[in-house]
Amino acid sequence: MSRLKQSLIPYLTKDEIQDTVERIAKEIERDYRGKEIVLIAPLKGSILFVSDLARKINLAQLVDFVHLASEPGNAAHNSSPSVKIVKDIGVNITGKHVLIIEEIIDAGRTLSFLKNRLLASNPASLKIVTLLDKPARRVINIKPDYVGRTIEDRFVVGYGMDDDGFGRNLPDIYYLKH
Ligand code: IMP
Ligand code: MG
Repeated sequence: MSRLKQSLIPYLTKDEIQDTVERIAKEIERDYRGKEIVLIAPLKGSILFVSDLARKINLAQLVDFVHLASEPGNAAHNSSPSVKIVKDIGVNITGKHVLIIEEIIDAGRTLSFLKNRLLASNPASLKIVTLLDKPARRVINIKPDYVGRTIEDRFVVGYGMDDDGFGRNLPDIYYLKH
């Protein structure tokens, strides 16, 4: 039973998602052949994407999670939105080839914050992977290195992505009806 308040419009089926994940996995395998990689997935939205992607990448790899929380800005106090770390990474990424695994990039604030946090640990390389990219919403200039699909400025749920906590378990991805 769905707890989503609005109706769902199909966007990507689970087969289309798997084809996209497969394509990204092949690109990463080709680019990192012979190397060890570390996948860093921000909780919670990326859980399904990273679990599928990790299984499709045939390279020695570590997987770790980071949990970030964004706090909305407050116009009355002239503050802009900020990001804080709820759970930091637990692996040492110094000198490692690191890939951030995002399910969707919107304004780019979360990702920009995470990128700076990880760069402070001096990885050998750092690249960004996202299943979906919404460039029209970008507030911070940040570009992913691997993109599944570029989407228009619409809110999506399913395959890890939520609407107020619900919908992450849906195997397909949907647009929310306005
Ligand atoms: P931003 O790029 O800092 O704005 O934040 C990106 C995060 O917001 C993503 O990792 C998602 O967790 C969440 N997000 C952005 N757009 C959507 C959407 O359309 N559906 C569900 N979650 C979204
Ligand atoms: Mg996310």
